[in-house]
Amino acid sequence: MTAPAVPNPDGIMARLKAGTAAQHAVAESKPLEAALIDGSIGRAQYQKYLAQRWLIHRELESATDRALKTDPRISSLKLPTLYQTKNLESDLARLQTNLKSIRPLSGASDLIEKIQKAAPATLMGIFYVFEGSKNGARFIAKALAQAWGLSDTDSFRYLDPHGEEQRGLWLKFRSDMDAIAWTPAEQDQMVRAAQATFDAISSLDDAIHAG
Ligand code: HEM
Repeated sequence: MTAPAVPNPDGIMARLKAGTAAQHAVAESKPLEAALIDGSIGRAQYQKYLAQRWLIHRELESATDRALKTDPRISSLKLPTLYQTKNLESDLARLQTNLKSIRPLSGASDLIEKIQKAAPATLMGIFYVFEGSKNGARFIAKALAQAWGLSDTDSFRYLDPHGEEQRGLWLKFRSDMDAIAWTPAEQDQMVRAAQATFDAISSLDDAIHAG
Protein backbone atom coordinates (compact mmCIF):
# COMPACT_ATOMS: atom_id res chain seq x y z
CA MET A 1 0.00 0.00 0.00
CA THR A 2 1.30 3.47 -0.84
CA ALA A 3 0.52 5.95 1.90
CA PRO A 4 -0.05 9.59 0.98
CA ALA A 5 2.90 11.87 1.80
CA VAL A 6 0.59 14.69 2.90
CA PRO A 7 -1.68 13.91 5.87
CA ASN A 8 -5.42 14.41 5.60
CA PRO A 9 -5.85 18.06 6.75
CA ASP A 10 -8.94 17.12 8.81
CA GLY A 11 -7.50 13.91 10.23
CA ILE A 12 -6.28 13.14 13.72
CA MET A 13 -2.63 13.16 12.60
CA ALA A 14 -2.84 16.78 11.43
CA ARG A 15 -4.48 17.66 14.76
CA LEU A 16 -1.77 15.86 16.71
CA LYS A 17 0.99 17.58 14.77
CA ALA A 18 -0.52 21.08 15.11
CA GLY A 19 -1.54 20.47 18.73
CA THR A 20 1.99 19.51 19.80
CA ALA A 21 4.11 21.75 17.55
CA ALA A 22 4.91 24.11 20.44
CA GLN A 23 5.83 21.18 22.71
CA HIS A 24 8.03 19.69 19.97
CA ALA A 25 9.94 22.96 19.76
CA VAL A 26 10.49 22.91 23.54
CA ALA A 27 11.54 19.23 23.57
CA GLU A 28 13.89 19.67 20.62
CA SER A 29 15.68 22.57 22.31
CA LYS A 30 16.35 20.77 25.61
CA PRO A 31 20.09 20.58 26.45
CA LEU A 32 19.97 16.76 26.51
CA GLU A 33 18.50 16.65 22.97
CA ALA A 34 21.08 19.19 21.81
CA ALA A 35 23.86 17.00 23.29
CA LEU A 36 22.39 13.96 21.50
CA ILE A 37 22.14 15.67 18.11
CA ASP A 38 25.61 17.25 18.27
CA GLY A 39 27.14 14.01 19.54
CA SER A 40 28.54 15.62 22.70
CA ILE A 41 26.53 13.46 25.12
CA GLY A 42 28.65 11.25 27.36
CA ARG A 43 28.15 7.49 27.40
CA ALA A 44 26.86 7.51 31.01
CA GLN A 45 24.19 10.06 30.19
CA TYR A 46 23.23 8.22 27.00
CA GLN A 47 22.87 5.03 29.05
CA LYS A 48 20.61 6.86 31.51
CA TYR A 49 18.51 8.16 28.61
CA LEU A 50 18.06 4.64 27.21
CA ALA A 51 17.32 3.22 30.66
CA GLN A 52 14.48 5.69 31.29
CA ARG A 53 13.08 5.10 27.80
CA TRP A 54 13.18 1.35 28.54
CA LEU A 55 10.97 1.78 31.61
CA ILE A 56 8.49 3.78 29.53
CA HIS A 57 8.41 1.55 26.43
CA ARG A 58 8.02 -1.57 28.57
CA GLU A 59 4.80 -0.15 30.07
CA LEU A 60 3.61 1.36 26.80
CA GLU A 61 4.00 -1.91 24.94
CA SER A 62 2.32 -4.08 27.60
CA ALA A 63 -0.56 -1.59 27.72
CA THR A 64 -0.74 -1.73 23.90
CA ASP A 65 -0.84 -5.55 24.00
CA ARG A 66 -3.82 -5.27 26.37
CA ALA A 67 -5.55 -2.61 24.22
CA LEU A 68 -5.13 -4.76 21.11
CA LYS A 69 -7.27 -7.41 22.80
CA THR A 70 -10.10 -4.98 23.60
CA ASP A 71 -10.11 -2.48 20.70
CA PRO A 72 -10.04 -4.09 17.22
CA ARG A 73 -9.80 -0.64 15.56
CA ILE A 74 -6.09 -0.39 16.31
CA SER A 75 -5.12 -3.77 14.82
CA SER A 76 -4.59 -2.18 11.36
CA LEU A 77 -1.59 -0.28 12.77
CA LYS A 78 0.41 -3.50 13.34
CA LEU A 79 1.77 -1.87 16.49
CA PRO A 80 3.91 -4.81 17.70
CA THR A 81 6.14 -4.38 14.61
CA LEU A 82 6.96 -0.89 15.94
CA TYR A 83 7.81 -1.91 19.52
CA GLN A 84 11.08 -0.73 21.02
CA THR A 85 11.55 -2.62 24.31
CA LYS A 86 13.75 -5.33 22.74
CA ASN A 87 15.79 -2.72 20.85
CA LEU A 88 16.39 -0.86 24.11
CA GLU A 89 17.38 -4.10 25.83
CA SER A 90 19.88 -4.81 23.09
CA ASP A 91 21.41 -1.30 23.31
CA LEU A 92 21.47 -1.44 27.11
CA ALA A 93 23.11 -4.90 27.07
CA ARG A 94 25.95 -3.49 24.94
CA LEU A 95 26.46 -0.92 27.68
CA GLN A 96 26.43 -3.66 30.34
CA THR A 97 23.39 -2.27 32.10
CA ASN A 98 21.72 -4.06 34.99
CA LEU A 99 18.05 -3.59 34.10
CA LYS A 100 16.97 -4.38 37.66
CA SER A 101 18.83 -1.34 38.98
CA ILE A 102 16.87 1.18 36.85
CA ARG A 103 14.57 3.51 38.81
CA PRO A 104 12.21 6.03 37.19
CA LEU A 105 13.23 9.69 37.30
CA SER A 106 10.87 12.65 37.41
CA GLY A 107 8.74 12.68 34.26
CA ALA A 108 9.02 8.93 33.72
CA SER A 109 7.01 7.91 36.81
CA ASP A 110 4.04 10.19 35.97
CA LEU A 111 4.01 8.97 32.40
CA ILE A 112 4.16 5.32 33.47
CA GLU A 113 1.20 5.83 35.81
CA LYS A 114 -0.76 7.46 33.02
CA ILE A 115 0.05 4.62 30.61
CA GLN A 116 -1.14 2.00 33.09
CA LYS A 117 -4.64 3.44 33.24
CA ALA A 118 -4.93 4.78 29.68
CA ALA A 119 -7.94 4.09 27.45
CA PRO A 120 -7.02 3.24 23.82
CA ALA A 121 -7.28 6.85 22.57
CA THR A 122 -5.05 8.17 25.36
CA LEU A 123 -2.63 5.33 24.75
CA MET A 124 -2.43 6.16 21.06
CA GLY A 125 -1.72 9.81 21.88
CA ILE A 126 1.27 8.61 23.90
CA PHE A 127 2.28 6.08 21.24
CA TYR A 128 2.16 8.82 18.58
CA VAL A 129 4.82 10.85 20.41
CA PHE A 130 7.31 7.98 20.56
CA GLU A 131 6.55 6.79 17.04
CA GLY A 132 6.96 10.33 15.64
CA SER A 133 10.18 10.77 17.59
CA LYS A 134 11.79 8.04 15.44
CA ASN A 135 11.95 10.64 12.64
CA GLY A 136 14.39 12.89 14.50
CA ALA A 137 16.09 9.98 16.27
CA ARG A 138 17.53 8.71 12.97
CA PHE A 139 19.51 11.94 12.69
CA ILE A 140 20.66 11.52 16.28
CA ALA A 141 21.85 7.95 15.56
CA LYS A 142 23.92 9.19 12.61
CA ALA A 143 25.39 12.06 14.66
CA LEU A 144 26.32 9.74 17.53
CA ALA A 145 27.84 7.15 15.22
CA GLN A 146 30.03 9.85 13.69
CA ALA A 147 30.99 11.35 17.07
CA TRP A 148 31.94 7.94 18.46
CA GLY A 149 33.85 6.85 15.37
CA LEU A 150 31.44 4.10 14.25
CA SER A 151 30.93 3.35 10.57
CA ASP A 152 27.20 2.57 10.87
CA THR A 153 24.22 2.95 13.23
CA ASP A 154 23.92 -0.80 13.98
CA SER A 155 24.56 -0.31 17.70
CA PHE A 156 21.75 2.27 17.92
CA ARG A 157 18.80 -0.08 17.67
CA TYR A 158 16.50 2.24 19.63
CA LEU A 159 17.39 5.44 17.79
CA ASP A 160 17.38 3.88 14.31
CA PRO A 161 15.23 0.74 14.49
CA HIS A 162 13.96 0.71 10.90
CA GLY A 163 16.81 2.17 8.81
CA GLU A 164 15.70 3.01 5.28
CA GLU A 165 12.16 1.80 6.05
CA GLN A 166 11.60 4.62 8.55
CA ARG A 167 9.90 7.04 6.16
CA GLY A 168 7.52 4.45 4.68
CA LEU A 169 6.55 3.13 8.11
CA TRP A 170 5.84 6.65 9.34
CA LEU A 171 3.63 7.40 6.31
CA LYS A 172 1.75 4.13 6.88
CA PHE A 173 1.29 4.90 10.59
CA ARG A 174 -0.10 8.32 9.66
CA SER A 175 -2.60 7.06 7.11
CA ASP A 176 -3.72 4.12 9.30
CA MET A 177 -4.29 6.46 12.27
CA ASP A 178 -6.32 8.80 10.05
CA ALA A 179 -8.41 5.89 8.76
CA ILE A 180 -9.63 4.92 12.26
CA ALA A 181 -13.05 6.29 13.28
CA TRP A 182 -11.95 8.13 16.45
CA THR A 183 -14.84 9.97 18.10
CA PRO A 184 -14.45 13.74 18.68
CA ALA A 185 -14.03 13.07 22.42
CA GLU A 186 -11.32 10.49 21.73
CA GLN A 187 -9.53 12.93 19.43
CA ASP A 188 -9.48 15.52 22.21
CA GLN A 189 -8.17 12.91 24.67
CA MET A 190 -5.48 11.89 22.21
CA VAL A 191 -4.19 15.42 21.68
CA ARG A 192 -4.17 16.08 25.44
CA ALA A 193 -2.29 12.81 26.04
CA ALA A 194 0.29 13.68 23.37
CA GLN A 195 0.83 17.15 24.87
CA ALA A 196 1.25 15.65 28.36
CA THR A 197 3.72 13.09 26.96
CA PHE A 198 5.89 15.80 25.41
CA ASP A 199 5.83 17.68 28.74
CA ALA A 200 6.83 14.50 30.59
CA ILE A 201 9.71 13.85 28.16
CA SER A 202 10.96 17.42 28.47
CA SER A 203 10.95 17.17 32.25
CA LEU A 204 12.64 13.76 32.06
CA ASP A 205 15.29 15.19 29.71
CA ASP A 206 16.02 17.87 32.32
CA ALA A 207 16.25 15.27 35.10
CA ILE A 208 18.68 13.16 33.03
CA HIS A 209 20.74 16.19 32.04
CA ALA A 210 20.99 17.41 35.63
CA GLY A 211 22.16 14.01 36.94
C1 HEM B 1 17.23 16.62 18.75
C2 HEM B 1 15.94 16.56 18.91
C3 HEM B 1 14.92 16.38 17.83
C4 HEM B 1 15.00 16.61 16.48
C5 HEM B 1 16.20 17.13 15.70
C6 HEM B 1 13.74 16.25 15.91
C7 HEM B 1 13.45 16.31 14.56
C8 HEM B 1 12.25 15.96 13.99
C9 HEM B 1 11.95 16.05 12.59
C10 HEM B 1 12.92 16.53 11.51
C11 HEM B 1 10.68 15.65 12.41
C12 HEM B 1 9.88 15.69 11.13
C13 HEM B 1 9.84 14.42 10.39
C14 HEM B 1 8.99 14.50 9.13
O1 HEM B 1 7.90 15.08 9.14
O2 HEM B 1 9.43 13.95 8.15
C15 HEM B 1 10.17 15.27 13.72
C16 HEM B 1 8.91 14.80 13.95
C17 HEM B 1 8.46 14.42 15.19
N1 HEM B 1 9.18 14.40 16.37
FE1 HEM B 1 11.00 15.16 16.64
N2 HEM B 1 12.90 15.82 16.89
C18 HEM B 1 13.59 15.88 18.08
C19 HEM B 1 13.14 15.51 19.32
C20 HEM B 1 11.92 14.94 19.56
C21 HEM B 1 11.48 14.47 20.86
C22 HEM B 1 12.30 14.51 22.15
C23 HEM B 1 10.24 13.97 20.68
C24 HEM B 1 9.36 13.31 21.68
C25 HEM B 1 9.78 12.30 22.45
C26 HEM B 1 9.89 14.14 19.27
C27 HEM B 1 8.70 13.76 18.69
C28 HEM B 1 8.36 13.96 17.37
C29 HEM B 1 7.06 13.66 16.82
C30 HEM B 1 5.83 13.15 17.57
C31 HEM B 1 7.13 13.95 15.46
C32 HEM B 1 6.00 13.79 14.42
C33 HEM B 1 5.35 15.12 14.11
C34 HEM B 1 4.22 14.91 13.10
O3 HEM B 1 3.11 14.60 13.53
O4 HEM B 1 4.49 15.01 11.91
N3 HEM B 1 10.93 14.73 18.62
N4 HEM B 1 11.15 15.48 14.65
